[in-house]
Amino acid sequence: MNVVIIGSGGREHALALSVSKSKLLNKLFIIPGNPGTGKIGINILIDVNDSWGILNFCLSNSIDLVIVGPEQPLIEGISDILSKNGIKVFGPSKEAARLEGEKSFAKDLMKEYGIPTAAYEIFYKDDYEKSLTYLQNIKYPVVIKANGIAAGKGVVIAENYQSAKNAVDDCFLKHSFGNAGDKIVIEEFMTGQEASIFAITDGLDFILLPAAQDHKRIFDGDKGKNTGGMGAYAPTPFVDEEILFQISQKIVIPTLKAMRDKSANYSGCLYCGLMLTDEGPKVVEFNCRFGDPETQVVLPLLDGDLLELLITTANVKINKNSVWYNGGSSACVVAASAGYPDKYEKGKVISGIDIAENDELLVYHAGTSIKNGELVTNGGRVLGITSVIKENNLKLAKQKCYDAISKIHFDGMQFRKDICDKALNKNSN
Ligand code: AMP
Ligand code: GLY
Repeated sequence: MNVVIIGSGGREHALALSVSKSKLLNKLFIIPGNPGTGKIGINILIDVNDSWGILNFCLSNSIDLVIVGPEQPLIEGISDILSKNGIKVFGPSKEAARLEGEKSFAKDLMKEYGIPTAAYEIFYKDDYEKSLTYLQNIKYPVVIKANGIAAGKGVVIAENYQSAKNAVDDCFLKHSFGNAGDKIVIEEFMTGQEASIFAITDGLDFILLPAAQDHKRIFDGDKGKNTGGMGAYAPTPFVDEEILFQISQKIVIPTLKAMRDKSANYSGCLYCGLMLTDEGPKVVEFNCRFGDPETQVVLPLLDGDLLELLITTANVKINKNSVWYNGGSSACVVAASAGYPDKYEKGKVISGIDIAENDELLVYHAGTSIKNGELVTNGGRVLGITSVIKENNLKLAKQKCYDAISKIHFDGMQFRKDICDKALNKNSN
């Protein structure tokens, strides 16, 4: 098979690595890819949002499957454009991608089908005064979310009325998120451990991949601003067999049914961002694609043939026996540029990757590029230093990760020191 992967981050590097091991693969292209994916397949310089450019490339290169990494092209309908032209796609249609693209759509759907999630209210731009009155009469903290996608910046946890009002002002008065903030969801604050679960589904049938835990805040102890994700590990001990069963029964099955009922069959990866509350798992958010950096730790824990899983899913006949958990564990620490998630500089020379990498240690590229023959930083999240070990031993996985990161250098490199700690502290309790 000839395969295209769309995207340029660590997630796409991980997808490329797993797909490259498939016995079904002939040629692998990554659009646009990064220096890491360039070692595994052929990088093609087309913008990820240029659906027609991507379609033309696929038609002239006999592409059998397109795997879409980021949400934006999915929300804009790349799956529909490619499938209408005879190209198979792993990733949901525009209608189904609304589960991520419009938070109010996802919330209303969950309410209608009794899928556990935080209680909420929706307000439109014209309801400004009404939203403030509502905020004066509720318990804090409360969570305010821009309805559309806002590059991970559209969610505010407000401790009091003033910060809630600031968040509403950002959306409705300052238009900080453009149209994405013309509508907001105000929801109840939930407490518990967070977990990320990928359901791979053809719309009817599905499998759950090993559960991961992301670390979204920039600093240790979950302090500071939200980021794209500063590290992850899998499997997370917070999700046991009983919780997995609840996730299947109460969240994944009814969500897929709801989407079928609405003639928006969901096919691809349904990313369930969950809060494991005292009342059971509840949905924080749905994403319409693989998570980043969770993918970097989940895929190396699968034996079998990932490409077989993805093509059978795209053919609406998922082969659930294509992959299985290999019993290992994995931890990924993101090395980020100084200043991230705010302003940061690019072009810092990166060294040490070759000495850090070994059989149990992978370095995924995310924000890197080649300049004058040297590998340099080219983004906020630069590398994903990732250990993969054969036994389920997160303590060892963490240690191998941090041993490796001490060998890697670029000016201003910052990273969290506490990836895996929630799981390790749980085990010692
Ligand atoms: P989201 O973009 O919806 O995943 O939100 C980003 C982060 O905000 C989540 O990973 C949670 O840590 C936090 N968050 C979002 N919604 C809630 C909620 N209702 N209760 C508590 N934390 C939340
Ligand atoms: N790791 C969070 C996300 O992919 O949205």
